[in-house]
Amino acid sequence: MGHVIAIDGPAGAGKSTIARLVAEKLGYIYIDTGAMYRAIAVWSSRTMTAAGDAHRLEQLAISAEIELLPGRRVRLNGEDVTDAIRTPDISALASQIASIGAVRAALVSKQRQIAENSNVVMEGRDIGSVVFPDARVKIFLDADPAERVRRRAAEQPGEHPGALTAQIAERDQRDRSRAESPLVQAPDATYLDSTGMTQQQVEDEILRIVRARISNGKAGSVADAPGQASSAAGETR
Ligand code: DC
Repeated sequence: MGHVIAIDGPAGAGKSTIARLVAEKLGYIYIDTGAMYRAIAVWSSRTMTAAGDAHRLEQLAISAEIELLPGRRVRLNGEDVTDAIRTPDISALASQIASIGAVRAALVSKQRQIAENSNVVMEGRDIGSVVFPDARVKIFLDADPAERVRRRAAEQPGEHPGALTAQIAERDQRDRSRAESPLVQAPDATYLDSTGMTQQQVEDEILRIVRARISNGKAGSVADAPGQASSAAGETR
């Protein structure tokens, strides 16, 4: 089992950018678990599977071959779905299907499998709380809702700010209040509010936290969850 750095937080907090940079600096593999939920959402949409059909969605999640490739490219069953997973409809659908326990179990199993033999920076909602409760470093990255909307608007210039505000509020509400693995800060995670910080400042702060943990011997061995079969590959940066 490799070292795990868990970065959790709400939509638009800047997790992906920071997690990628940190992975690159440390020579770890970067894993965007949100992309995995999004890939299942794309498949369910194409197969017209109802968002409430838990059994069928579980089957899709178990059998999906998800590859996370360099440059944030994502392949589902051999097809490049990088752009398809980022539409507003898929964002909403991913959040809906992420509330189904059996779908989560299937994807968590793939996530644990990836960390079996690799050091990873894994970002999501439940990485420190559920997927790797014994991760050596856990960070909960937050920012106030207005700032998160501004950051998303910069990434998606075509989107109306009002629509983005509504989408993020709705996803926040669903991700935080669902019964299965809701977005919560793990008790032993370091909370970082990045509101008003530059990307460089956030990166420096996270690297400082990670290095402090590692030099304390906390990351000297490994994290710590059983894995099962998965075809997901990681992005090596
Ligand atoms: O990080 P993201 O916005 O790409 O994630 C898309 C959705 O997937 C998000 O609304 C909640 C869900 N998700 C989750 O429930 N658990 C994770 N570890 C990652 C994402």
